[in-house]
Amino acid sequence: MFKKMQISNMTTLYKSGTPFNTGAVIVDMDNNNFEQVSNVTFFTIEEGSNEISFIYEMAKDDVVYGLGETLGALNKRGKRYRFYATDDPEHTPEKESLYGSHPFMILDGEKTFGIFIDYPSEIIFDIGFTHKDILKITIFSKDFDLYIFDCDEKLTIIKEYFNLTGKPYIPPKWAFGYQQSRWSYFSEKEVREVANKYRELGIPLDVIYTDIDYMDSYKVFTINKETFPNYEGMVKDLKEKGIKVIPILDPGVKIEEGYEVYEEGKKNGYFCVDKDGKPFVTAVWPGLTHFPDFLNSKVRKWWGQKYKVFTDMGIKGFWNDMNEPSIFYTPKSLDKLFDLLKDLEKNKEELGIEVFLAKESFAKISNNREDYRSFYHKLDDGTLINHDLVHNLYGFKNTQATADEMKELLPNQRTLLLSRSSYPGLHRIASIWMGDNKSWWEHILVNIRMLQSLNMMGFFYTGADIGGFGADASAELVVRWMELGAFTPFFRNHTALNTRPQEPWQFDEESLNIMRDIVRLRYAFLPYTYSEYMNSVKDSNPFVKPISFVFENPRSKDIEDQYMYGESLMVAPVYEQNKKGRYVHLPQVKWLNWTASKYEERKMKVYEPGDYYIKADLSEIPLFIKENSLIVLSEPMNFVGEKDITELTVAGLVTDHALYNYYDDDGTTYNFVKGDFGTIKIDVTKERNDFKIAIKKDDKNNMLKIKTIHFEIYDSDGSVVKKDMLI
Ligand code: NOJ
Repeated sequence: MFKKMQISNMTTLYKSGTPFNTGAVIVDMDNNNFEQVSNVTFFTIEEGSNEISFIYEMAKDDVVYGLGETLGALNKRGKRYRFYATDDPEHTPEKESLYGSHPFMILDGEKTFGIFIDYPSEIIFDIGFTHKDILKITIFSKDFDLYIFDCDEKLTIIKEYFNLTGKPYIPPKWAFGYQQSRWSYFSEKEVREVANKYRELGIPLDVIYTDIDYMDSYKVFTINKETFPNYEGMVKDLKEKGIKVIPILDPGVKIEEGYEVYEEGKKNGYFCVDKDGKPFVTAVWPGLTHFPDFLNSKVRKWWGQKYKVFTDMGIKGFWNDMNEPSIFYTPKSLDKLFDLLKDLEKNKEELGIEVFLAKESFAKISNNREDYRSFYHKLDDGTLINHDLVHNLYGFKNTQATADEMKELLPNQRTLLLSRSSYPGLHRIASIWMGDNKSWWEHILVNIRMLQSLNMMGFFYTGADIGGFGADASAELVVRWMELGAFTPFFRNHTALNTRPQEPWQFDEESLNIMRDIVRLRYAFLPYTYSEYMNSVKDSNPFVKPISFVFENPRSKDIEDQYMYGESLMVAPVYEQNKKGRYVHLPQVKWLNWTASKYEERKMKVYEPGDYYIKADLSEIPLFIKENSLIVLSEPMNFVGEKDITELTVAGLVTDHALYNYYDDDGTTYNFVKGDFGTIKIDVTKERNDFKIAIKKDDKNNMLKIKTIHFEIYDSDGSVVKKDMLI
């Protein structure tokens, strides 16, 4: 039995039992408006003792999109996905779970509809895996909310999902600059050297991250005074160079007498508890730790206020890691392991398969479901709830603590806030990166696909560790990944402990020069990227989209390695080793190709729709501007906001008429909500052998400093008209 409520003309809620209020949905429901039903539209239902499955028979050509942070193809069909947040750094193709839980999908085909399940523990989406045509969604509970979006239009379904769960997060404008990270820069000296090197080499940079080793013994909210004697001074000095510092923060609190965070948490009962009501003991980087109980609002307040030590230094970006929460071991699981080792030792003369099997037992001591079942949260009303039942919310609530208190610590300031684990709703307040990928060519493609799927969930501001996190990277791999990264909203080079360094200068002169050009290209695109990002949030229209969301031709449904970046630009990165080009599908309209390396060199070529092999040397990335649309560029800078943008270059292929809505604001506050922003409507109409240009500026608060617009408008025959206009 479900309680059914029509939320809008296309969205229906089916409520089963008494679901936990996750905070994913922001719409106020009128609880009197329910009707009792036993069916859910589109699905047949199978009920077990502890779970319910929803089954749908897919037609041959149905395509499934969504599910956010999952591995495999963009079309989700043919694989099983399990939402139970986990810290798994081995993103191999068979894996079913990663850090986040994003149970929203769209089935597109004979029938088209969306489904979102608001349930914060285990759900399995078997999408034609067990049986190729059967979609089976199993929720391991009888208490959940299920939403059906009955609509033929994929983008409208997504809009409706955002109506329900809120619009995507907006970072500061500098978050669209290039960012450098490493686990770890071990000292203040090293961080300063990296910053200086960027400036010396003329490679733009906006952010440097300090990973866990800036802390004293991995104690969250502390600083190692020996290696970082003047963290605050470093933050200030780097700021003068236009570089922002972002520290990592982990939820596990070290158990150590006298350590303030531990003492306060213990005294006030702020930690999750075990079945006896004692603070639950687990282990992460610092050794034995307790987990703050982020499901409790008092704890969130306490935790969020702790960021003051950083905001007081002028820091405006935070990286919340390990919040699945990751468990390395618990004393109990460690004991089991030692017992096993003792057994092995006893029989050490006769071991064979036992050693092989022991490896598995070793792996199981981390992130074990049994451990997640053995601790509890105390909710605001005093009730205790087993962690396992709300597991997927931990990262969301951890990051909510940060986001909520930022309103007090940095009033009206935007922050760059990253979380590793996530749940629907987190996309309103922060964003995520794609976790611990590897320096593998295959993972560039994973990155391209996940970028599109995450955008459908409202994680517009996202990207992967450029160059790959685990394993050593070659120069070629980093270069090609940087080319992709230049066209993902979150553009950060990051790598793991003990791997080959990946900063642009770590390879050879040629690779360094290419990487400098790529990063400069990224900054040249900044007016476009920012303007498109802001417009995409306003319009609830994913910033990155599969081309099949824009073009109806059947071939587009097969294209997963090209994507729309904003409304005008299609990106087709080269992501294979030793390749000097790639095949590209150009759907339905004409395209203006720019296989870009240097911002200054704009060699453009017009293509008819079709399939082509596009040559792209190591230094080049194939870009395509859609017919009758425009891109806007400016001179690259060393960091976002270094100079006012006084000149824009507008480029495009206009066969009829193109309109660009240029948007800009202060990039740091929320004043845009009150109307503090400037826009320029750029209108280009084809006329015989010329183009008519009309410009309408709306800038009552003087946000825009643009004086000149340079036009480079192409015609179908490849000829170009160049004009300058003063505004
Ligand atoms: C795991 C994160 O995913 C990674 O990015 C980070 O470098 C390490 N933790 C160390 O903090």
